[in-house]
Amino acid sequence: MSILITNIKQLLQVHEANVNILKGADMKTLPILENAYLYIENDTIIEFGKMEDCKDMEAETTIDATGKIVLPSWCDSHTHTVYAGNRTSEFVDRISGLTYAEIANKGGGILNSAELLQKTSEDDLYAQSIKRVNELIAMGTGAIEIKTGYGLTVEAELKMLRVIKRIKQESLAVIIPTLLAAHAIPKEYKDNKQDYIKLITEQLIPEASKLNIAHYIDVFCEEGYFDINDTEAILKAGLEHHLRPKIHVNQFNVLGGIALGTKYNALSVDHLEELNDSDIEALNNTETIPVALPGCSYFLSIPYTPARALIDAGLPLAIATDYNPGSAPSGNMNFVVSAACVKLKMTPEEAINAATINGAYAMGISNMYGSITRGKKANLIITKPLNDYTEIPYTFAHNPVEQIIINGQLL
Ligand code: NIG
Ligand code: FE
Repeated sequence: MSILITNIKQLLQVHEANVNILKGADMKTLPILENAYLYIENDTIIEFGKMEDCKDMEAETTIDATGKIVLPSWCDSHTHTVYAGNRTSEFVDRISGLTYAEIANKGGGILNSAELLQKTSEDDLYAQSIKRVNELIAMGTGAIEIKTGYGLTVEAELKMLRVIKRIKQESLAVIIPTLLAAHAIPKEYKDNKQDYIKLITEQLIPEASKLNIAHYIDVFCEEGYFDINDTEAILKAGLEHHLRPKIHVNQFNVLGGIALGTKYNALSVDHLEELNDSDIEALNNTETIPVALPGCSYFLSIPYTPARALIDAGLPLAIATDYNPGSAPSGNMNFVVSAACVKLKMTPEEAINAATINGAYAMGISNMYGSITRGKKANLIITKPLNDYTEIPYTFAHNPVEQIIINGQLL
């Protein structure tokens, strides 16, 4: 199977030598080839260059991309796409003035989603979730991290992991599973949180590891959820079973979770709406990437992650949707790229880098995804006709995607 895309107006994120991550000032550069071609064989990018150099090239399928832009598909490194139902009633409560914390304290929030998910059959949960994944793919996402965390019992967390595994098998998109059993304290454990932590560290982590069904371990490190000591215990247990941390930190309060994450070589620390100087210092000279989730800030009306402070300190940054029923019920990466520009004051180049190569890094897959590089997987967006790539964030809440290629297959 071979595909030749010709007359590409702008081919974005072109790297002759492989890149895995872009940091600080390097994020300002988005390498572009104008009037280009791209040649794919099976699932792999084989060749690209200027149109004048592809005269004798032939392929089984040729796509004329006149007026269109081609770029790596979006890499969404933080989602909770597997959930049951939705939380529209809480949405209305928040419009009427209740905060996210007030709703959670009333027994709503994550516990509300967990109650429903526990009652939902595995087949129904799969059907609801694969529908969402297919919608994300149609909006240009080619790789998606999906977390558990709405099960909150051994049985229901494993059900979520099996649903994620089934999505991974049935969908063309790259799916990365993360165990987030430490997402909230279940009602039954309200007065004995340590017993729930034991259940995670002594039963769930070993079982998930035995089944080889999760890549990463996550914890919601936040006041009213899991404190620094709880988080440390869970990260340690995860690492003993080869689950590297990717954690929720600094969403509402600064507890020191970023330094804890870097101490345990977290792949990513996510949210960071609240950030101080020592958090930025803790990230220096580490392999941990910060991840901003502007859709969550938008939906909850909370501060946006100070992206400029992070990037201007020389750090890398990824952006992701946080797609979930409570704080970000949208998995549209095009919106996230636009919000990163408008609200996080990132340039279009920085935002596209954050949503492609750096998003791939935050999932541990940037050796094969996230840039147009020979030998990397062919996961691509072909846009509708556009004058320039800056129109992608400019026309916010539009879908610029016309066609997508995932692992070499045209959809
Ligand atoms: O990343 N903050 C914790 N978890 C999710 C929200 C989960 C929910 O409200 O259902 C987040 O924002
Ligand atoms: Fe999240």
